[in-house]
Amino acid sequence: MLVVPFTAAPPIMTHSREREPITSLLVTLYSLLLVMTRRIADLLRHGQPNETVTIQGWVRTKREQKEFSFVEVNDGSAMAGLQTVVSQELPGYAETIKRVSTGASVEIAGTLVESPAKGQRIELKAESITVFGEADPETYPLQKKRHSFEFLRDIAHLRSRTNTLGAVFRVRNAAATAIHNFFQARGFLWIHTPIISASDCEGAGEMFTVTGFNLAKVPLTADKTVDYSKDFFGKQAYLTVSGQLEAEIMAMAFANVYTFGPTFRAENSNTSRHLAEFWMVEPEMAFCNLQGDMELAEAFLKHVFQHVLETCTEDMEFFNDRIDKSVLATADNIINNEFARVTYTEAIELLEKSGKTFEYPVEWGLDMQSEHERYLAEEYFQKPTIVTDYPAKIKAFYMRLNDDEKTVAAMDVLAPKIGEIIGGSQREERLDILERRLQAVGLDPAPYWWYLDLRRYGTVPHAGFGLGFERLVQFMTGMGNIRDVIPFPRAPQEVEF
Ligand code: 4AD
Ligand code: MG
Repeated sequence: MLVVPFTAAPPIMTHSREREPITSLLVTLYSLLLVMTRRIADLLRHGQPNETVTIQGWVRTKREQKEFSFVEVNDGSAMAGLQTVVSQELPGYAETIKRVSTGASVEIAGTLVESPAKGQRIELKAESITVFGEADPETYPLQKKRHSFEFLRDIAHLRSRTNTLGAVFRVRNAAATAIHNFFQARGFLWIHTPIISASDCEGAGEMFTVTGFNLAKVPLTADKTVDYSKDFFGKQAYLTVSGQLEAEIMAMAFANVYTFGPTFRAENSNTSRHLAEFWMVEPEMAFCNLQGDMELAEAFLKHVFQHVLETCTEDMEFFNDRIDKSVLATADNIINNEFARVTYTEAIELLEKSGKTFEYPVEWGLDMQSEHERYLAEEYFQKPTIVTDYPAKIKAFYMRLNDDEKTVAAMDVLAPKIGEIIGGSQREERLDILERRLQAVGLDPAPYWWYLDLRRYGTVPHAGFGLGFERLVQFMTGMGNIRDVIPFPRAPQEVEF
């Protein structure tokens, strides 16, 4: 038996769809020299008959025939696995093939051959098999071809080995890459804003407290409230709801910055679009108004969709086939059409004239609910819709007051099926008005001294937005529940690992 050493070095992988012949040759030579394993995505695209290769992965299916067995191996690099043909002539065949069941981890070395089967260009003729870990067919939960997403959520430690979740997390990775590429190409600095924060950016009070107290013995003040001055940070601290305020600090030094990290909301919303922990992308731009903010948001979404379509073509086709038949048309629509733009006041008129009966009332001054957002984006405009100039009363204190003194320079991007995907605004850069706004919403200006300082020293018009990353991945893939586009979802009554 050919013995192929197990190498810990990362296998070679390329994402490029077309590789230069010289690069192909170098990669092949390199992997031959190092006896390196190859990623299956790479072999499916570039592997040639007669190449000697080694793969590592998990068995998806095994079909035993009289003289040989077909073993399909998947290593997560692509939706498709590599078909391996294991002949019973292989020494130790009977014993090995018994251990090679769905879910088992294997290393297989052999030679690539042209495949006589339909739908695959090549297959691997096995010359040696190492089984790293068996997966008992009696208990391994992923035996069926299809499982419900609810079932898979209960085994979130195994679900990434399924076709759908595998595709979701490859798309998620590609979208994250596209986000960094987009901002880096435009000279934005990536800022690492803190996860522990002392301020409520959204002023909505939906924050988790971070404490070092022993909860059985919490120190109290004379009037029986919690004495946070004795806590770890000497004051009450929270998990951040947004990196915006810190991004504004950095934008006043670097002009264009962005954050991309986890944010937390303690709102008790048990919906298919809310998580308690989600990732947010927040660009912030000095010398920018609402118009510039909207233009950036639109160019940004177009870029991310384009990149994902180009790099995850098979996964996106899979979503279109199996999850939502409009996935590819939606992507095409985003990339090739201008977004609709409408003011809040016009949007309310459209909703009133729609002839629809909504569950929640439609009235100027009330916040729009998801059903209203979806009517606008899904039915009326049938494309992403940017709604601007919301009533000041329903928006956060930092949004810039318009000349009518009733509305603010806010913008939400609404997506068909999802509703709000981006929330942003031009920021209030005038010290006196900002102070008035803080008081109007009942916030004590004292803890915001540093935020007010930015308006005292070198203030500039500036704007930014926040994109809910999981909502974007939902929008791209057509996945119905936000819990299925983040590897380890945290929601009310839901935390594991
Ligand atoms: O509209 P939001 O609350 O805006 C902000 O936090 C601003 N500080 C952003 C900024 O201007 N820099 O949240 C922004 C986006 C929403 O549009 C939505 O996509 C997403 O974050 N989001 C959530 N996603 C999942 N689960 C939740 N509970 C979410 N809450 C908001
Ligand atoms: Mg919002």
